[in-house]
Amino acid sequence: MAIETQVYIAASLDGFIAREDGSLDWLNVSDPEEGRQLMAEFEALLSEVDCLIMGRKTLETVVQFERWPYGDLPVFVLSTRLTAPPEIPGSRISVRNCRPGALLDELESEGFERAYIDGGVTIQRFLEDGMIDRMTIAVVPVLLGQGRPLFRKMDREIALRLVETTSYPSGIVKSTYVARVEA
Ligand SMILES: NC(=O)c1ccc[n+]([C@@H]2O[C@H](COP(=O)([O-])OP(=O)(O)OC[C@H]3O[C@@H](n4cnc5c(N)ncnc54)[C@H](OP(=O)(O)O)[C@@H]3O)[C@@H](O)[C@H]2O)c1
Repeated sequence: MAIETQVYIAASLDGFIAREDGSLDWLNVSDPEEGRQLMAEFEALLSEVDCLIMGRKTLETVVQFERWPYGDLPVFVLSTRLTAPPEIPGSRISVRNCRPGALLDELESEGFERAYIDGGVTIQRFLEDGMIDRMTIAVVPVLLGQGRPLFRKMDREIALRLVETTSYPSGIVKSTYVARVEA
């Protein structure tokens, strides 16, 4: 059985996941109850996967958080430049420089079953190679105008099937799609 891959990401209505400088201030949810609910859903997702694959630029943001959010979940950082992972107590981070399919083959051979894929460019490369099974996108009601895009131009179409949609009082609309839909 192939390793299952899923995306869980927040984007502005115009499709950006971060400002140009990488900042995420526009993601703050003002209602504490809604913030708790979204955090609980994120933690539930983390408990369902057995590894996380992220791009080098996402790692650079996450290391600035107050605490490492992934505990001892194995994290594979894709990069052509990074030679060694940062030393964060309790974390299990390693670096890889390869195509999405090669990494998934490696992880599958090591017994991993469910991977969470994170970072815009990283998600784009997995999508282009047909390596994403499921995507949950929380659309935040803001037009940033510019920033780091979730999607980019591709040379093929990918059909998706909507699984569910939930809307929140802040106006966030979270939708889950299954990719790799058979034609
Ligand atoms: N809104 C959200 O929910 C959310 C979620 C995650 C991240 N973010 C934000 O998004 C930004 C980062 O996203 P991003 O699109 O800029 O970049 P990214 O996908 O995090 O990282 C891109 C980098 O990953 C490396 N990479 C990706 N695929 C590779 C492969 N197959 N082989 C080798 N290296 C590979 C390359 O690193 P090298 O340049 O080192 O080769 C590439 O420059 C950050 O600001 C982060 O905070 C937002």
